[in-house]
Amino acid sequence: MTAVVDPLIRLDGVSKSFALPDGRRFDAVRDVSLSVRPGEILGLIGRSGAGKSTLLRLINLLERPDAGLVRVAGRELTTLPAKDLRLARQRIGMIFQQFNLLQNATAAENVAFPLRLHAGHSRAQVADRVAECLALVGLADKADSYPAQLSGGQKQRVAIARALAPRPDVLLCDEPTSALDAETTRELLATLADVNARLGVTLVIVTHELEVVHALCRRAAVIADGRLVEQFDVANAARQAASPLALELVRLQRQAAIADQVPSHAATSHAVSSPTSILSPAPTATSTSTSTSTSTSTSTPSLAAPSAPLVSSLEALRA
Ligand SMILES: Nc1ncnc2c1ncn2[C@@H]1O[C@H](COP(=O)(O)OP(=O)(O)OP(=O)(O)O)[C@@H](O)[C@H]1O
Ligand SMILES: [Mg+2]
Repeated sequence: MTAVVDPLIRLDGVSKSFALPDGRRFDAVRDVSLSVRPGEILGLIGRSGAGKSTLLRLINLLERPDAGLVRVAGRELTTLPAKDLRLARQRIGMIFQQFNLLQNATAAENVAFPLRLHAGHSRAQVADRVAECLALVGLADKADSYPAQLSGGQKQRVAIARALAPRPDVLLCDEPTSALDAETTRELLATLADVNARLGVTLVIVTHELEVVHALCRRAAVIADGRLVEQFDVANAARQAASPLALELVRLQRQAAIADQVPSHAATSHAVSSPTSILSPAPTATSTSTSTSTSTSTSTPSLAAPSAPLVSSLEALRA
């Protein structure tokens, strides 16, 4: 008999619309129901404007749903009083495409920030936890560096350390590698895999890079026009999935499998070495762009919108 594991995250019929300047409403997320099991790595994929970031932000109530339920670690967040919601959010870390670090604070101060937001930690406890988290992401020697003195990958690892400091159950990642080059992407994905494997932190990752899904995610959910189109196990994508995006992933997996069979140095690092944008003109995409957000293709819609500024995110988290 298989043990039934309660989902860590359960969205039940969530919808979210935004007011447009002309007074009409735009439905960004429509009646989505989705469960994430503890320890899982789920990729949320879809084209630009599909509603991925909005859906991700509904999980920690950075966006409040107009309808539906958001249950995380057994608690229904939408009905929690502000104080309890603040506590519940400590268990839900988040990282962003543009890192969103405090520029005038060192790496250590950035990581200490969420611990200082909430009373109950002594100075020594904060210092210990900061050192522990920086070590975890391989940045023990950068504690006193300011963000401007760090590479993109190092900044994102500081952001991961900051998100991990309050010991979250889940880490929400919004395009965590989109601003990074291929090699740094690979390293960052290894760090995230490590966080999942060693700490058991559940990961939900919005990405438009199918290589990220291939390399890291165990399950994927396809979002289109605010709706959940399909979900599948990444390893069984060829059998379970039917959407165009999923089929694109299957093609990538086949290419990777073929590359793995070629005993040549030329066939190395298939997984994340040259991120394929969902919006690339597949299958002959030859883009080696290191930052898809700077794509200049006239036929390609602009990629990820900039992440919400840290300030508003933190304000919302404190609200
Ligand atoms: N605060 C807002 N006010 C009005 N419309 C919004 C707001 N936030 C998002 N939207 C709209 O909702 C839709 C979904 O946005 P969202 O940011 O979730 O898309 P996405 O799938 O993350 O796209 P991308 O891959 O480009 O980041 C978009 O059409 C966007 O313009
Ligand atoms: Mg987005």
